[in-house]
Amino acid sequence: MKTLVILGSGGRLGAALARGYAQETRVIGFNHSQLDLANPQAIESALGALEFDALVNCAALTNVDYCETHREEAFAINAQAAGQIGAICARKKARCIHISTDYVFDGAKNTPYLETDEALPLSVYGESKRQGEIELLQSSPDHLAARVAWVFGPDRPSFVDQILKRALETDQLQAIGDKWSTPTSTQDLVEWLRPLLWEHRVGGLMHLTQSGACTWQEYGQFALDRAWEAGLPLKGRTVGFQAMASLAAFVAKRPVHTVLSTQRFAALTGQTPRCWQEAVAEYVRGWKPTV
Ligand SMILES: NC(=O)c1ccc[n+]([C@@H]2O[C@H](COP(=O)([O-])OP(=O)(O)OC[C@H]3O[C@@H](n4cnc5c(N)ncnc54)[C@H](OP(=O)(O)O)[C@@H]3O)[C@@H](O)[C@H]2O)c1
Repeated sequence: MKTLVILGSGGRLGAALARGYAQETRVIGFNHSQLDLANPQAIESALGALEFDALVNCAALTNVDYCETHREEAFAINAQAAGQIGAICARKKARCIHISTDYVFDGAKNTPYLETDEALPLSVYGESKRQGEIELLQSSPDHLAARVAWVFGPDRPSFVDQILKRALETDQLQAIGDKWSTPTSTQDLVEWLRPLLWEHRVGGLMHLTQSGACTWQEYGQFALDRAWEAGLPLKGRTVGFQAMASLAAFVAKRPVHTVLSTQRFAALTGQTPRCWQEAVAEYVRGWKPTV
């Protein structure tokens, strides 16, 4: 049985991958308290002597606004650690997949971004994640940086859980209606990353999201409609429009349109990711108000 290391195994995606691969591989997970990526010595002592066949790095400083005012910390965790982990994997000839983000783009392109499009991040978070891709690929061109977007799943609440929870409490619902990307399921990422880990060991950049595109408002409305059909006693049934510019709580600048093309993945594996509506509908059908 192959050994797979998952970094960030306490997070939304890392926990889903650790569970998803537990039957078929020996999974060694590290959560934040077990390994702090801000500490290079800790990385070396945790991974340097460990024997493994592949590693997926899902750990990151993901709070976009926190990163904006903590640049050094963001770069240590999202960039320098990615390079160091890449170098350790290269030394061991282990497959290495690093999870990156749609926020490497400025969002000015109104058609889906290709891996070959120039990354021009608007925020410290985006810059640090872009630098992580660069440092990873400098450590070995065989490593893969997989860019994901709007990730949801059962292991940690995200937008879809928040809007459903709020709809159970109030009919005052709003979500941003002028920012586009693609909701992406952690369960589907388990399926898409499997062939990239073991079978199609290509290097470079790879976009991995569901198909299609929407705004937060459309995403929220779709989730509410499915929840109503499933019999959830919603107080709120309609998600109103909110302009991104009206959100005073946003410290960092966000890209407007970061729909990613998954052409490279589809050409390589023969799989086209299912549309976001199908993945969200399935998630909402299994959703419990306690999440
Ligand atoms: N969620 C999205 O919509 C989204 C969109 C685009 C890209 N991504 C990327 O997808 C990946 C997975 O994100 P996610 O959605 O699973 O987010 P998440 O739930 O926030 O997971 C990130 C994990 O990293 C851990 N972490 C933070 N600082 C750390 C440190 N110094 N050392 C070790 N671990 C640390 C966190 O632990 P604690 O929580 O205990 O601190 C958390 O478990 C990340 O690379 C993220 O940039 C996510």
